[in-house]
Amino acid sequence: MSLEAIRYSRGSLQILNQLLLPHQSRYEAVRGAPAIALVGCLSLAVELQGGAGGPGLAALVAFVRDALSFLVTARPTAVNMARAARDLAATAVQEAKREGATEDEVRERVIRCAELMLEKDLRDNRSIGDLGAQHLLQRVAPGGGKVTVLTHCNTGALATAGYGTALGVIRSLHHLGRLEQAFCTETRPYNQGSRLTAFELVYEQIPATLIGDSMAAAAMAHRGVSAVVVGADHVVANGDTANKVGTYQLAITAKHHGIPFYVAAPSSSCNLSLETGQDIVIEERPGQELTDINGVRIAAPGIGVWNPAFDITPHELITGGIITELGVFAPEELRAALNSTVSQGGHLDGPPQ
Ligand code: MRU
Repeated sequence: MSLEAIRYSRGSLQILNQLLLPHQSRYEAVRGAPAIALVGCLSLAVELQGGAGGPGLAALVAFVRDALSFLVTARPTAVNMARAARDLAATAVQEAKREGATEDEVRERVIRCAELMLEKDLRDNRSIGDLGAQHLLQRVAPGGGKVTVLTHCNTGALATAGYGTALGVIRSLHHLGRLEQAFCTETRPYNQGSRLTAFELVYEQIPATLIGDSMAAAAMAHRGVSAVVVGADHVVANGDTANKVGTYQLAITAKHHGIPFYVAAPSSSCNLSLETGQDIVIEERPGQELTDINGVRIAAPGIGVWNPAFDITPHELITGGIITELGVFAPEELRAALNSTVSQGGHLDGPPQ
């Protein structure tokens, strides 16, 4: 059975507590941009299924909107929650405006919309995995043979509805029999790499090696890394990308070694309403994440700490491409590619302001 961060069935939602992995598997907390959005929306769906909101259409719509606005504040860097909130709120408003609409119908539409998001994320991730694997193989191993991929943070089944984004590409390469091995970085300070990605790779029996974040340049120089593939919390119009802190230095290092650097993310992580990465808000987290390990102080008392959770990789360092469910695009092609999706009925213009 594959790992599941989110277990949902009508009226019931269970979330795997990733703070306790790999030592304990207990269902309850959430991380990873797509999973945060899905859990936010599904938790609302469960509340609505249980009868929350109302009485009356106006009160029900206000309840949906208020709950979603609160959820958007949870993680400021990722765009997925804000976009999902906008779509869900618009669904509630639209359904409530329909002639003769009832509270039950509004509830059902919002719940179904959240359920469809879960199903779509899984489908999109499989496409990202397959499209990314094909592109990467054509680029770095056109004559056949195996590739070695380095990744950062956790972008797998634990961060999404399933299969994963960057880890989905690694999974697809493995299924094709073309993966020599994956390198996963430890991802300090919160160790999503050594706790979660390593856990997923071992669980799926994918050949892999853990390295400290400071070993990435040495691995690129001496361990035959063919490509770097990372996830994203937010990709803006010019292709600049916010992802887990440490991504930027990997991109610089990959460029130095002439190794293609890919970002793998669903189009729901792309936001054409922001022009450059400078417009993305970067979440800063408590200094204790750096100074302490498992509640034990390791840093010298009195030292100041700066702990941004994400950094921005400028588009010119994304030399492999941006892998989405719609295709693999050079950063400068992204805007046109997503706009053509919009003209075919999609909407990628941005989250509510
Ligand atoms: O702080 P986290 O663990 O939520 O950070 C996760 C990342 O940075 C991921 O790379 C990103 O959310 C994409 S997950 C598919």
